[in-house]
Amino acid sequence: MGNKAKFIEQVSTSYNPKGAFIFLGAGLLDGEILAQAKVNLPLKMMNRHGLIAGATGTGKTRTLQLIAEQLSDAGVPVFLLDVKGDLSGLHQAGEANPALVERGEALEWPFEPSGFPIELFSLSGKAGNPMRLTVEDFGPVMLGRILDLNDTQTGVLAAVFKYAEDTQLPLIDFADLKKLLGYLTDGPGAAAIKDTYGRISGSTSGTILRKLVALEQQDVSDIFGEKEFEIDDLFGRVDGKGVISLLNISDIQDQPMLFSTFLLSLLSQLFKNLPEVGDLDKPKLVFFFEEAHLLFKDAPKAFLTQVEQIVRLIRSKGVGVFFCTQSPTDIPESVLGQLGNRVQHALRAFTPNDAEALRKTVKTYPRSDFYEIDRVLTSLGTGQALITVLNDKGIPTEVVATHLIPPRAVMGPVDAKTYDQLVTGSPMYTKYHETVDRRSASEILEDKLKQHAVEAARETAAREKVKGKARRSTRQTPLEAAQKAATTTLAREGTKLLARLANGILTAMFRKKR
Ligand SMILES: Nc1ncnc2c1ncn2[C@@H]1O[C@H](COP(=O)(O)OP(=O)(O)OP(=O)(O)O)[C@@H](O)[C@H]1O
Ligand SMILES: [Mg+2]
Repeated sequence: MGNKAKFIEQVSTSYNPKGAFIFLGAGLLDGEILAQAKVNLPLKMMNRHGLIAGATGTGKTRTLQLIAEQLSDAGVPVFLLDVKGDLSGLHQAGEANPALVERGEALEWPFEPSGFPIELFSLSGKAGNPMRLTVEDFGPVMLGRILDLNDTQTGVLAAVFKYAEDTQLPLIDFADLKKLLGYLTDGPGAAAIKDTYGRISGSTSGTILRKLVALEQQDVSDIFGEKEFEIDDLFGRVDGKGVISLLNISDIQDQPMLFSTFLLSLLSQLFKNLPEVGDLDKPKLVFFFEEAHLLFKDAPKAFLTQVEQIVRLIRSKGVGVFFCTQSPTDIPESVLGQLGNRVQHALRAFTPNDAEALRKTVKTYPRSDFYEIDRVLTSLGTGQALITVLNDKGIPTEVVATHLIPPRAVMGPVDAKTYDQLVTGSPMYTKYHETVDRRSASEILEDKLKQHAVEAARETAAREKVKGKARRSTRQTPLEAAQKAATTTLAREGTKLLARLANGILTAMFRKKR
């Protein structure tokens, strides 16, 4: 048997899964596209996660698109991060231009344009319907990450969150967190937290507060609040097709820490809320993480551990996660080792760093009877990739250089008017457009502080009265007595800030009475 025939036989045997699959393309051997050597990705293995890597412009985003399209067709909802704002075209059928038709023909796969149901979301609420999260659901580790806190500071944040949970104080937005932090550092709560979780130092608390304020000034704190995004809304279907939810972050691209952490948090919400299902015939949801290097760059250990765990555990909930990035070396090994389906586009070897990344990447592939891996990786064209997936038994398939099919929808954004109509015409607009401000930690604590100040004032006023009876010479007005009492009591507890606050409240109270 010739090399070509052997190649076709091997590929079509190992990439021929039982059950539904995604058609990726056909094998390439010595520069020739061999349409019979079909490369398929079994749907039941999508929850074993994946990697789409390659140098810039090699076709990663379009690979992601063509996989998302076929998932939608199979009734599987998809979540994808739209970093450049150029994926909304998924809604519109593509145009059969000669290049696309030719690509289809070479693969014996006629190009049939099609659009798909999409939902448009954004974190700022400006480029799509808002996807908000509450501070408490975001959690201290993630928050510590976006605030760039050290381990000690993150630990303090964790104690504050725990206190809020134990005392039923809803932490919805930044106002709640700031209020609670103050309350526990040098307010009436300081003693309580000291006994249970340890004292919070003024300087640590000050640093956290400063960083919270800095983030607020960057106009991104609106992400935290209500109405919180319900993850059930990621599971929509229209006419049997899975809805593709796009999170457009093109307007906050310069905040990589923020959106990557937000995404991870969304994943952990999914994990918490979905039941165990084991291995299904097809996944419940597939999540594509574009520009995944942003998630891992300079990440502290606690954060990496969290990513690694979520990725490992979410599989049994029927959720697949695909990371998209330039080089596999952008992904920590503990995560990379869990990515069973790999689509590796061309890598460049221009710089010593490139060469190093190439060498490391080559090492992660098994030997091939047909290719020299490093040669193939540097010579692949646009829309071609070196592929290995898990077959329907969970065994890695041999690597195949693959000529990929084209996406069927538009490769780019829809026009601004259509975009706007898609946003405002969606049920997600009705549900999430308005913010809700329910009674949460900041209001509850505000009331507690008022009560505390009034009680302290009353106590001291009573004492003053007794003293005054004995020594009538130093009479005070009720306001003076209350103010003084509040100030001394609170100042004694080391709560200068609170004393000022209490004074303000008391002044307002007495002003109203007059
Ligand atoms: N499967 C494909 N079928 C047809 N054309 C493709 C395919 N993949 C890539 N292309 C073409 O290559 C161009 C670049 O692809 P793409 O935007 O996916 O690259 P990328 O790797 O995501 O780049 P970047 O790193 O800059 O994000 C596309 O605009 C498209 O014209
Ligand atoms: Mg891209």
